[in-house]
Amino acid sequence: MPFPARQRLLLPSLAAFAGLASLAPAHAAPDGAGLYTAQCSVCHQADAGGSPGQFPPLKNRVDKIAGSPEGKSYLADLLTHGMSGSIDVGGDSYVGYMPSFAQLPDEQLAAILTYVSSLGDAKPTPGFTADDLKAARAHALTAAAVNKERQALAAKHPLP
Ligand code: HEC
Repeated sequence: MPFPARQRLLLPSLAAFAGLASLAPAHAAPDGAGLYTAQCSVCHQADAGGSPGQFPPLKNRVDKIAGSPEGKSYLADLLTHGMSGSIDVGGDSYVGYMPSFAQLPDEQLAAILTYVSSLGDAKPTPGFTADDLKAARAHALTAAAVNKERQALAAKHPLP
């Protein structure tokens, strides 16, 4: 009598699968705020205000940096390749290392950048798509080269 035994095994696992599927719909948009908290707040702080001399503030700044196509490209490159070397922000010098987040999927990185861009007064809020991140991922860049990209950007569009 193999069938009843098999059914007993299959039914609970099907029910569990249906339960999981309803908890995580395949096309739900990633939660940018939650991802920011999990991935970025340890350094840039929960309110994205940064920590003077250690971690630069992001709120009220990333929305302005994202105001040009080159600025958006820099931000997407930064998240997929990291950045090393020193930067100046609001008179403070930061000599640190920003890790790459290339291990996260494009959709999640886009949601994080869109969330951080919403923490400022730029209208409309700049938005990032998975394609923006996909393009950045394809650039062959080192963390030091991303710092050079930032310098070139700052020369063209003064950074906040
Ligand atoms: C381990 C600490 C750390 C984590 C985690 C971290 N960062 Fe950074 N971030 C830094 C440091 C340090 C710098 C400055 C890098 C430098 O001096 O070259 C930086 C720089 C930046 C900048 C550049 C600001 C500018 O003025 O150009 C942005 C944007 C940024 N981080 C966003 C993020 C986001 C978004 C996350 C989460 C996905 C994140 N960071 C996670 C440490 C961190």
